[in-house]
Amino acid sequence: MNKKEIDDFLVQTIDVVGKNLRETINNQKEVDTKNGRNDLVTNYDKNTEKYIVSQIKEHYPGAQIISEEGFGDAPSNMDGLVFLVDPIDGTMNYVKRKSDFASMIGVYLDGEPYVGAIIDVMNNNIFHGGKGIGVRKNTELLKTPEDKHLSDGLVNLASWLVLSNSYNAIEIVKKSNGLRIYGSAGIIFSHILEGKEIVYMSRLAPWDLAAGRVLIETLGMSVCRVDEAPLNMLKSQVVIVSTSNAKNEVLDTVKSAKKL
Ligand code: 2AM
Ligand code: CA
Repeated sequence: MNKKEIDDFLVQTIDVVGKNLRETINNQKEVDTKNGRNDLVTNYDKNTEKYIVSQIKEHYPGAQIISEEGFGDAPSNMDGLVFLVDPIDGTMNYVKRKSDFASMIGVYLDGEPYVGAIIDVMNNNIFHGGKGIGVRKNTELLKTPEDKHLSDGLVNLASWLVLSNSYNAIEIVKKSNGLRIYGSAGIIFSHILEGKEIVYMSRLAPWDLAAGRVLIETLGMSVCRVDEAPLNMLKSQVVIVSTSNAKNEVLDTVKSAKKL
């Protein structure tokens, strides 16, 4: 097993997924809800996950799989090689907008970020790599974006954070150049990797976070919990994804609200 080989496997797998989702984008979909009317799942989420899980089991039979729609293994630890799979990230966008959704696979080795891949499906761009092999957009090697301050960049905050002003969200937006909301963690990770925005704050499930964390940390940017506890890849958690400079400014802003 080597890192480059798994990276190639992720790119191949997610490329097939992307082609299939683009070809079928106008087909009638079976749409169900999960936890409430705005938490959607379609037959395409399920079938895409089944395909990805079958590919992982064929190529890496000893690996554990954590996946959103439940066709993986539900492991209780991060021992060995663990694949975390989000077959369609931004399912609401997939159904309503037919754009701005992603598919993501993150791979961890004994709990540590190893390799990851995110496809921006409708733009057919694959962001992939890991420590030691770099981060690529398709074949192009990405450079670390400039370490911008909060006052010099755009921020992404989940809409519920802003609406409820949780964690002093409104103050974070005011200190920045402005707020953007896209509805897909994978799409936002791709923007931060390219330096288009400098902060993302949201509650993310393990499969929402896994691939993006690998790529962000590989480029020397930061992923931390809003409470500064260690990240736990088996649980949902509120995270700040950002440049190093913006990380401290966002954390200071969160803490300044607690003192009020
Ligand atoms: P999903 O489409 O794979 O569910 C905006 O909705 C972003 O948050 C998307 O990336 C979406 O991923 C994710 N998301 C939606 N509901 C969530 C929840 N309850 N917990 C964690 N992430 C969620
Ligand atoms: Ca999903």
